[in-house]
Amino acid sequence: MKASAAGCVAALSPVFALAKTEDGFFDLAAVKGQARLYGKDGGLSNLWLYNDRLPGPQIRVKRGERVRVRFTNNLEEPTSVHWHGIRIDNAMDGVAGLTQPAVAPGDSFDYDFVAPDAGTYWYHAHNMSWNQVPRGLAGALIVEDDEPTFDPDCDITLILNDWRLDENGTLETASFGAMHDFAHAGRLGNWLTINGISMPDIALKKDRWHRLRLINASTARILDLAPARFGARLIGLDGQALDTAREIEGTVQLAPAQRMDLVLRPEETGKLPFEMMTGKPFTFANFIVSETDSEDLALVLPPPNQLPEPDLSSSWELPLVMAGGAMGGMRSMMRNGVEMDMHQMMSEGLFWAFNGVAGMDGDPMFSATRGDTILLESRNDTAFPHAVHLHGHHFRVIERDGTQLEHPDWRDTFTSQPRETVKIAFVADNPGKWLIHCHMLGHAASGMMTWFEVA
Ligand code: C2O
Ligand code: CU
Repeated sequence: MKASAAGCVAALSPVFALAKTEDGFFDLAAVKGQARLYGKDGGLSNLWLYNDRLPGPQIRVKRGERVRVRFTNNLEEPTSVHWHGIRIDNAMDGVAGLTQPAVAPGDSFDYDFVAPDAGTYWYHAHNMSWNQVPRGLAGALIVEDDEPTFDPDCDITLILNDWRLDENGTLETASFGAMHDFAHAGRLGNWLTINGISMPDIALKKDRWHRLRLINASTARILDLAPARFGARLIGLDGQALDTAREIEGTVQLAPAQRMDLVLRPEETGKLPFEMMTGKPFTFANFIVSETDSEDLALVLPPPNQLPEPDLSSSWELPLVMAGGAMGGMRSMMRNGVEMDMHQMMSEGLFWAFNGVAGMDGDPMFSATRGDTILLESRNDTAFPHAVHLHGHHFRVIERDGTQLEHPDWRDTFTSQPRETVKIAFVADNPGKWLIHCHMLGHAASGMMTWFEVA
């Protein structure tokens, strides 16, 4: 990670919010566009963007609202849009090849779904995601609580993104799809932006409660953050509100695709660094606190969503063993029912497996009956961390390495360190075909992806 260019700061303006058209649709188009990722001294990067914006425009709806998005693909390759973290109608999940055919260049697709839970979600491309998301195809999807809990100007969306830039400060593209990245930690970058801006100043008001909605849209970078260092407490994870504002001692990880909602009320004017804590604290933005000009509102926490509680007394226990990758010692894996040795696997660009199977087999990993409680025991037999996402459901993370967690938080993406065992539980109550994959997108593309069915 390079140090950000000192003195080259830009104020963060609020993420552009998309307005509905007269017929009640959000118009969203994937297009080619450009942005200066390195700041004003860097070159223009060629990106793929939603509505020519970086990040994509923010879509804001009310809890329970019907969301209709008229999506047009103006790229030269097929794409689709996934609404990450929404317990969505399966047909609208946006997974090219599983829930819909990819939208061809020039074609349109209407997404039409209900957003049942309030919270911080996001949307991103879901066809060849490893090649599309890291070019800019991502945006925030915010589902508002029934009653607004924060002033709009104190409710701040921050999309964190790790880019791989070349020596001109523009997006490095030659290494897209590099097998070396796929087999190791994924496409790690060397430059962080927030809402597309390098080293931004984030304006806060003294003595006011703020809600920060953090979204990690990176393809592979796990961000170690320390909210207490700037006086913030945790109020939500992956869209789901906690029942209290939690103090975080030390650091907390925000893995690719994960979200974290924070609250803070700065007590002094001035500057507070926003740091990444991997190694030495590394500042990638600053909070600039100024005098307030309006009245303070009391802190009202968003109420938790009502999610189906897993019944551990009658759960269906299933393993999810992650294997493969560089230094993983894997000798063979199954591909469409056929055993392949390491050499064959690598020649097909497959490096990873769940339960010994690489990539999407014809058969689901499991078929649940609607209402079943699933207890997945994941074991990471690889040399790398992973961030595993389940589509269409939220789950509780209940145990790590045999220890029950004090906070069995609801999540849609869980992290797993090398050699770690993680237990998650959820009620399979959403009918359809749902992906389970690593959200390090190169890992997903090279085998770490499967699916399950709920009928
Ligand atoms: Cu955020 Cu399958 O994706
Ligand atoms: Cu992974």
